Amino acid sequence: MKAGVFDSGVGGLTVVKSLLQHKIFKDILYYGDTARVPYGTKDKNTIIRYCLEALEYFENYDIDILIVACNSASAYALDELKKVANIPVVGVIQSGILAVKKTIKNKDANILVIGTNATIKSNLYEIGLKNNGFSNIISIATPLLVPLVEENILDGQILKATFDHYFKDLKDKNIDAIILGCTHFPLLEEKISDYFNQAITIHSGDAIVEYLKSEYNYDTIYDKSNIQFFASSDPKNLKATAKRWIENIRII
Ligand code: DGL
Repeated sequence: MKAGVFDSGVGGLTVVKSLLQHKIFKDILYYGDTARVPYGTKDKNTIIRYCLEALEYFENYDIDILIVACNSASAYALDELKKVANIPVVGVIQSGILAVKKTIKNKDANILVIGTNATIKSNLYEIGLKNNGFSNIISIATPLLVPLVEENILDGQILKATFDHYFKDLKDKNIDAIILGCTHFPLLEEKISDYFNQAITIHSGDAIVEYLKSEYNYDTIYDKSNIQFFASSDPKNLKATAKRWIENIRII
């Protein structure tokens, strides 16, 4: 089985990390549109156009399934991609909602959704959660966390100031669970959870693995997964980031 993983840039490596850990694909082909990142600041039509172009890129590689690791792309382009693709296309929003449903049994739980401007504007997490009976949802765009992660600022004063900027007023709201609705946020998972008194976090990578297992009957059947990286700009930086973010990765 060969999976294509698409992201706006390097962020989707957090999803790749989960896929590699679970060894559900023999081959993974990652394509990051690093020339045009970020998608989270773009409008719907632009995101759709970029995603359709990415699908064309994958056409040369004979993949069995396309995983859209980018939340912003999943928010706007999934339906359009499904319309034209002749393979299954899965995104991280459906899987994130399913993960909340499986993990959080209390429908009155206070759930915080964080993501890029595009993802939060789409309102898809909120709609999906409400359809599943959750009613206490707060959604906020936290775009500054994206460049912080890319600058490897994963701790310290700047991060603390950014958390305070976005989250200060939520501190007394007893947040029970947080959807990390952006590829980059798993690198801040512990810090975000700590800020909200050990709130549960929902991670797109782990959520998509569960989703592929439960909805598509994929399973851990390989001894290892091979991965290849492609990028629309500076593939060396993508590979270097993969080495930093994913322990013991073998890059071919
Ligand atoms: N990959 C994007 C996401 O998950 C974050 C970076 C961007 O804005 O393109 O929404």
